[in-house]
This record gives sequence, structure tokens and C-alpha cells, in this order.
Amino acid sequence: MAGGQLLIDICASTDLLNGGSGVRFEVDVGGRNAPAFAIRYGGRAFAYLNRCAHVAMELDWQPGMFFDFDAEYLLCSTHGAFYDPVSGACRGGACIGHGGLRALTVIEQDGRVRWQPDGYAEPLRPIV
Ligand code: FES
Repeated sequence: MAGGQLLIDICASTDLLNGGSGVRFEVDVGGRNAPAFAIRYGGRAFAYLNRCAHVAMELDWQPGMFFDFDAEYLLCSTHGAFYDPVSGACRGGACIGHGGLRALTVIEQDGRVRWQPDGYAEPLRPIV
């Protein structure tokens, strides 16, 4: 825990390679399960809701495959929107004028990548 904040384990740091496959996970947004993913770019881990700004579709063309061929942008497989992997901002294609990806805060410590819920995206509620 950092600063008393809740941290949710996503994966090992070694699971995320620069420009490589992402790790999918789920969060709760407004009481519904929502897909999310973590990737590494420039040595840092980032996470986003897996929801294109153009139409609310998941980005990956195969599970965990988010980067374009050159591993420079996050690519939506549906209509080809591409996003800055550092900020989630739309950099071209069908997302222009629709905003960017919704970023999630991730923290790396002790060889793990952990997500810090922010009040918008929350941990999944256990099924009781
Ligand atoms: S749904 Fe992503 S570009 Fe259209």
C-alpha cells in the first residue's frame, strides 16, 4: 500500500515488455464490469480502460495485442484509431474529436504492477 491507498495487483513487472503484449484485467465502472489493460512503453507501465473513444469497443485485435506494428501507438482493431501509449490521447484515425483513452493509475513496486482505484473505476465487487 502506498499512502494508505488501496492497490490492486495486476501482474508481475516482468509480464510487461516495452511495446509488447498487454495484460487485461477488469474493473467496476458505475456498477458494471469494464475491461482494462496494462502495457509498458518507454520503460514505464500504463493502464487504460479497454474502451475506444470512437465507439465503446475493446481495442485489442487479439487478447492482449494493443500496440501497432511499430510498437509506437495503441491501436484500435475495429476502425484503426491510434492512441499515445503515455497519455492515451488520440493521435489519429476514427477517435479524432472523440477524446482519448481513460487512463488508470498504476504503480510499480516490489516487482509488481498495481492499479490504484480512483473513484471512477473501482475494484470488482466480490460475488456473495
Ligand atoms: S471502435 Fe475504435 S476506431 Fe472505431
